[in-house]
Amino acid sequence: MAVSLSHFSGLVKAGGSPYIGVMFANPLMDGLQFAKEPSPFIITIFGATGDLTRKKLIPALFSLFIKGNISQFKVVGFARRPWTKEVFQEECRSMLAIGHFSHVSDTQKQAFLDKLDFVSSTFGDSAGYTKLAEVVKPWEGRLFFLSTPPDDYPVIVEQLGLAGLNKVEHGYSRVIVEKPFGRDLATAKELNEVLSAEFEENQIYRIDHYLGKETVQNILVLRFGNGILEPIWNSRYIDHIQITVAESIGVGTRGNYYEKSGTLRDMVQNHIFQVMNLLLMEPPNDLSPDTVRSEKVKVLRSLRPITYKNIDQYTVRGQYAAGVTQGQPVRGYLEEDGVAKDSLTETFVALQIYVDNWRWEGVPIFIRTGKGLGRKVSEVVVTFKEPPLQIFKNQATDGSQNQLILHLQPEEGFTFHLNAKIPGYTTQVRPVNMKCDYEDAFGEATPEAYERLILDALVGDSTLYTRRDEIEASWTFITRILQGWAQDKRPLPQYRAGSSGPEESKALLASIGQKWRKL
Ligand code: BG6
Repeated sequence: MAVSLSHFSGLVKAGGSPYIGVMFANPLMDGLQFAKEPSPFIITIFGATGDLTRKKLIPALFSLFIKGNISQFKVVGFARRPWTKEVFQEECRSMLAIGHFSHVSDTQKQAFLDKLDFVSSTFGDSAGYTKLAEVVKPWEGRLFFLSTPPDDYPVIVEQLGLAGLNKVEHGYSRVIVEKPFGRDLATAKELNEVLSAEFEENQIYRIDHYLGKETVQNILVLRFGNGILEPIWNSRYIDHIQITVAESIGVGTRGNYYEKSGTLRDMVQNHIFQVMNLLLMEPPNDLSPDTVRSEKVKVLRSLRPITYKNIDQYTVRGQYAAGVTQGQPVRGYLEEDGVAKDSLTETFVALQIYVDNWRWEGVPIFIRTGKGLGRKVSEVVVTFKEPPLQIFKNQATDGSQNQLILHLQPEEGFTFHLNAKIPGYTTQVRPVNMKCDYEDAFGEATPEAYERLILDALVGDSTLYTRRDEIEASWTFITRILQGWAQDKRPLPQYRAGSSGPEESKALLASIGQKWRKL
């Protein structure tokens, strides 16, 4: 009997019994155990009046609550604004008014809001932490989420230590640190020192929300859960790899932040390198946090340095100029609020990277990311080498190399490009697609990254968090590029908003006779 998956798109608890407010169980999920059941906990959000809390943290906690993943808990907002618990509750009510939660009853929303509390204090005032310690006291599971501007991290961490909130006799105290984690190797090391003065490494959770994305995690499953890929996943069979994370929006209201950051720090050092590590790492012998993370560090340590000597050959920067993206006019970066008229901050980066290890020697890895591009899309393209003897060369159309494309977002799934014969009396060859769409395959909408990550921190699983040596290895590579760029004071190449980036980036692919996949 054919079953339409659209009937079963509700939320389902392990074992098939439905969650609150859900009509149908998804038969594809029957018998699978997913439960991660955190013990009772209190989560304190530093910087609770900010954007991340509004857009991601409160919705993620609420989502976990309505799905039945968390039940006994309290959420404390900690911030400078003179808000009361009631004001915080009302603010959070408006955060839950988004369409995504329109099906949830007011009773359920109220049950969640009743679990909220607020401490109003500057981050350096010990009185605020004394108050917090009182609120936290009855709870043995304690999570502290640093979601303030990073300059505030050291004082918060120090105050948590002074108030004795960095340890609990029976239970746990863990700290989640939002990005940006440093702005170069030296500052990342400093922050690690500050954290390690009060917390053990196994209490520190450095977040990278890309690791919370289902499609990013699926890279591991695709590579190591299938026997057929591993034998060809190396320089003998792979020609090159492209990783694209494109965004159509400009910097919007974040001009001030962006000026100090730029795309290399904002996207490459963290998110894209995480994707790259999963693509290139050796098979771990188990899934324990340290085994997986040790393999990722090895990739970062094998990257061939890009320094001022080869920076023009292997890196391209750009800034978006005025244009139109997704039908909306966009100002040029240099006209954005908070941006210097002669800014040298990049809004686009393309890199050509080599990994000096046995598996990847000679295989170029191309990275491209930026704002103000034609559309929002994140994907990986693995292009395989031509067959050794190309007997169909004269019959093939362009683009006949096999490709595996991993669609990370907004589409989620993967596509294989293979060659096939065009039906007819002559032998003409054309690429065809074998496609898998995760939503069609599993009938489930994928959860938000922060849901998974918060849940993992609650159960003490740090696999999807970044370890100290990993973050420092990544900054080691990135800092050399930053230093190389700092010596070049020429204005950056401009690209029209809505385009696929600066023309200069084409030269990277052209150097190996290839092209970027169309955006
Ligand atoms: C953030 C960056 O970390 O990631 C933003 O600071 C960027 O500039 C965002 O827009 C992209 O995340 P996502 O999940 O929308 O791809």
